[in-house]
Amino acid sequence: MRNVTINVNGTSETREIENRTLLVHFLRDHLKLTGTHVGCDTSQCGACVVHLDGRSVKSCAVLAVQADGATVLTIEAIGTEEKLHPMQEAFRDHHGLQCGFCTAGMVMHAIDMVRHFPDLDEETVRHQLDGNICRCTGYQNIVTAIQAGAVAMRG
Ligand code: FES
Ligand code: FES
Repeated sequence: MRNVTINVNGTSETREIENRTLLVHFLRDHLKLTGTHVGCDTSQCGACVVHLDGRSVKSCAVLAVQADGATVLTIEAIGTEEKLHPMQEAFRDHHGLQCGFCTAGMVMHAIDMVRHFPDLDEETVRHQLDGNICRCTGYQNIVTAIQAGAVAMRG
């Protein structure tokens, strides 16, 4: 057991955890931030994507102790019910979700894509989505939503 302190969504959070605790379980079990999902046990699905020091990561592939002292952003800090983030609005407007299980990870990764790829053409988006699995939509609407969200984010 050891203490870790992680700035999560703007709040410094210190918890005593086991060394093996994954970041996703730190968020879900210790902080009750359940918008970040667990969709696999092989680090393939991307349902658990959060931002760690400004880059998207699969939080099931990071130990919480590795994030000690870092800054984490989860879907809970991205938008509100009253005011969605432009990427969330784009997913809603372009039907980029059905059951919604993958959506938090998709949105977090999509926002990271916009920040790091000046030209988000369809091929780039599809390539970037390699690590995000959706079992419902067939992806076309997700690709369309991400491209529309990118335009909205860039104003
Ligand atoms: Fe992290 Fe599936 S739960 S990749
Ligand atoms: Fe159901 Fe993607 S909307 S898994």
